Amino acid sequence: MAEKYKIHGGETLRGEVSIGGAKNSVLKLLAAAIIAKGKTIIHNVPELTDVEIMLSVIKELGANCVHDKEHKSVIIDSTDITSITARYELVSKMRASFIILGALMSRCREAIVALPGGCAIGERRVDFHIKGLETLGAKIKIENGYVHAKASKLVGADIYLDIPSVGATENLMLASVMAEGSTRIQNAAREPEIIDLANFLNTIGADIQGAGTSEIVINGVKADRIHPAEYTTIPDRIEAGTFMAAVVGTRGKAIIKNIYPAHLTFFNDKLVQMGANIKLVDPTTIEVSCKNRLNSVNFVTQPYPGFPTDLQAMAMTLLTTSNGVGIITESLYENRFMQVPDLRRMGADIHQDRNHAIVKGVKNLTGANVVACDLRAGAALVVAGLIANGETIVEKLHHVDRGYEKFDEKLRALGAKITRFNDETEGSYNSSAILKGAN
Ligand code: EPU
Repeated sequence: MAEKYKIHGGETLRGEVSIGGAKNSVLKLLAAAIIAKGKTIIHNVPELTDVEIMLSVIKELGANCVHDKEHKSVIIDSTDITSITARYELVSKMRASFIILGALMSRCREAIVALPGGCAIGERRVDFHIKGLETLGAKIKIENGYVHAKASKLVGADIYLDIPSVGATENLMLASVMAEGSTRIQNAAREPEIIDLANFLNTIGADIQGAGTSEIVINGVKADRIHPAEYTTIPDRIEAGTFMAAVVGTRGKAIIKNIYPAHLTFFNDKLVQMGANIKLVDPTTIEVSCKNRLNSVNFVTQPYPGFPTDLQAMAMTLLTTSNGVGIITESLYENRFMQVPDLRRMGADIHQDRNHAIVKGVKNLTGANVVACDLRAGAALVVAGLIANGETIVEKLHHVDRGYEKFDEKLRALGAKITRFNDETEGSYNSSAILKGAN
């Protein structure tokens, strides 16, 4: 059934919201859990379709997984790994499942994983992952759309990444946990999710130094050093940034809990330049507010700690009604302006030339029927619907469900008029229908 949001825009968001565990961290932690024989418990696991897909991948390898949604925990018992294959049917649903390649190489020294192919936002190649594994001594064949990697032993080596790729850094960290000797990844990605994965791997007995800098050293350890453990995922900085954009865009005021503000320095700085107020309440809580029309800013998306590409679409939505002209340069992906045609349909004035977008602020957006083409573009359209005058329908919510847990519920708690419905449950803003439409 096609799920949609109906949003009546123009409400000022106020109140409190708590941020869930980081999607882009937890997916890797779940995969990494198969390295340690026995029961590993991951806490702060959000309820997302991407998490379910990763659990399906792991279950097919023979691990036993229990998702305790009430306590936001997952128990992975990987005592027996009986398969080394990640099927195309699963990998094609979520390219992050390609991370299982490094985990399987660590645990089994062999893996057969479907190649993810391109996706809507860009080509998204995996050549650095493959080249890095070969440098560690794996023999790799690509056949029938699958990567078949095998190694009698993996030997630590120096690996230089052309781009600080998040996925390649993670796959290579995973693969070298039990390699002979030390592996040094140069020009490594520095994202908080990389640090989280390294911390988890160190918790299960690995020896990884330098995560969070551009040189990560993985000193290979013997298999008997690796043991299962309990670990708590970091908060989702992109979910936090999305709520901050929604509050600022509606000129509201809200407390955002369970956030690591240091993970959002660049984004926070841009919001402050635009006229938002951000106050630190305690180390994991901020208050964000905005009274007046925002000012335009320019920004370029960059690997961490630069402006995050995953918040580019939300920032673009804010620029659509800001005072002046803002220029966005998207430097990570070839096609990450998927929100532009629908924002234009809502009245935005955006000129796009390849990876540049020039956004001239208009006084107001107006509600329209729009389609979530990908996860972050979809979230940005929800934010646009909250800002716009009148009614917005956002279709194809399965994209948004990949990365936002109970998005409509959390927004309603802040006072947004948003309801979830499908063709059978007509959306309405009165509270009983909201309950009926919610899931
Ligand atoms: N690249 C290559 N070759 C490679 C690997 C990457 O050319 O072997 C290129 C990609 O094509 C891309 C750039 O390098 O243009 C960066 O890709 P990266 O590998 O860093 O990204 P990723 O690991 O595929 C993760 C997040 C993305 C986020 C990026 C950048 C997960 C599951 N995904 O992707 O998140 O945009 O890092 O920060 O961690 C999202 O959550 O909406 C999302 C797309």
